[in-house]
Amino acid sequence: MSNKKDNLCVLPWNHLFVTNTGDASFPCCSSQYSLGRNEKSDSVLKLSGGGLLKELSESKKNLREAFLKGEEPKICSGCYEKDREGIWSYRKTSNDLFPKTYDELKNKSLDLASPMKLEFIDLRLGNLCNLACRMCDAGSSRLLIDDYREYLGDENFGKELEGINWFSDRGFYKNLVENGKDIKIINMAGGEPFLIEESWEFLEMLIDRGFAKNIELRYNTNLTIIPEKAKKLWPKFKGVVLFLSIDGIDDVYEYIRYPAKWTKIEKNLEYLEDNFEDLNITAANIQMTVQAYNIANIPELTKYLQKFEKISKVPLINLLETPNELSFKSLPIDYRKEVAKKLKIFLMDIFDLKGLQKIDTYEDFLRNTTYLVEELLNEATFQDSQYQEFIRITEFFDNKRKQKLSDVLNL
Ligand SMILES: C[S@@+](CC[C@H](N)C(=O)[O-])C[C@H]1O[C@@H](n2cnc3c(N)ncnc32)[C@H](O)[C@@H]1O
Ligand code: SF4
Ligand code: SF4
Repeated sequence: MSNKKDNLCVLPWNHLFVTNTGDASFPCCSSQYSLGRNEKSDSVLKLSGGGLLKELSESKKNLREAFLKGEEPKICSGCYEKDREGIWSYRKTSNDLFPKTYDELKNKSLDLASPMKLEFIDLRLGNLCNLACRMCDAGSSRLLIDDYREYLGDENFGKELEGINWFSDRGFYKNLVENGKDIKIINMAGGEPFLIEESWEFLEMLIDRGFAKNIELRYNTNLTIIPEKAKKLWPKFKGVVLFLSIDGIDDVYEYIRYPAKWTKIEKNLEYLEDNFEDLNITAANIQMTVQAYNIANIPELTKYLQKFEKISKVPLINLLETPNELSFKSLPIDYRKEVAKKLKIFLMDIFDLKGLQKIDTYEDFLRNTTYLVEELLNEATFQDSQYQEFIRITEFFDNKRKQKLSDVLNL
């Protein structure tokens, strides 16, 4: 079997990805979107019965076979599309993160039957969260279940999402630790990962087994709380990379990330900045999910971040995936033109912001913001029906939350 073209991906040989509902059958988070998110529930519990590595290798057999034959599996289409467009794909990122495993794959030391080498774990720890952000879904925050029942007029909506609790199963974490000698990266999101008590016990188990010093921890967090345990446990690991979800400043932040308070986030950001080394943080990125409510706030958030030296000064632009009506493309053309103008001026000003060019993510930020300007000006993407849906969902949540769109947008 030859692999003339570069189609390979390390993940079916070294990765465990678990969805919010506890489904461990997807090869990675990126593949979820290629086939749609029709997840099975709790398949992860089956894995905690033992034989984790064998079961994982078995479940990846078809995918491995396709890669080794030089094919581009359908479930991976999102990655190959990005590769062709010249955008960095999760496939390339993962191959880069594990160069030794990638080399073994290329020189055929790894094959169809190789046991899973569990180097990379990505856990979406259910849907327990203290926030109900406007653009989020009930699968990630159970606080949104009742809202969506009312909004959709469907009292059965989200019944299966009410009792997700696989992430409290201590046996699951114990089983990971039993098979954890090769772990190099653990990524945790949710829900809000800092709220999950068992995830901190998981860290304690990894420390007790002597694995922690080889492991980098990564978190997507809303930063509304910083648990005491972080101070004690994180320094025992190789390092901690934070992706801090902050979608704007002041009133824009509070409008989207309900019911969080901006002053609390500011305090927690300052705490991280002041205790960066003590907490063993190696990088803290601000992740902004760009949507209709905050696209105009990109300059304000970026300017606010200039006061930090350790926390990244430019946000990572994460484009909203669903629902379509909350995309910035739902906004009326005249408003979109105004925002495009504001972003263009900002892009010119940004060269004057001291030290920005040295930041790793600066180039990405410029490219993504330039893309946003082009898309804002692309009138073909506007549909009146989508705008009407945007108004409908916005008014629904405004009424429930006693908030006003006009406080954050001047349409
Ligand atoms: C679902 S949250 C879970 C972790 C944590 N609660 C947080 O907010 O970071 C993970 C990331 O998904 C982003 N996100 C939420 N809704 C999204 C959507 N509709 N499209 C794209 N990203 C979204 C959030 O902003 C956050 O950065
Ligand atoms: S190619 Fe992409 S979608 Fe497929 S397993 Fe690798 S990272 Fe996941
Ligand atoms: S904090 Fe994260 S999981 Fe919770 S509602 Fe917001 S985006 Fe969703």
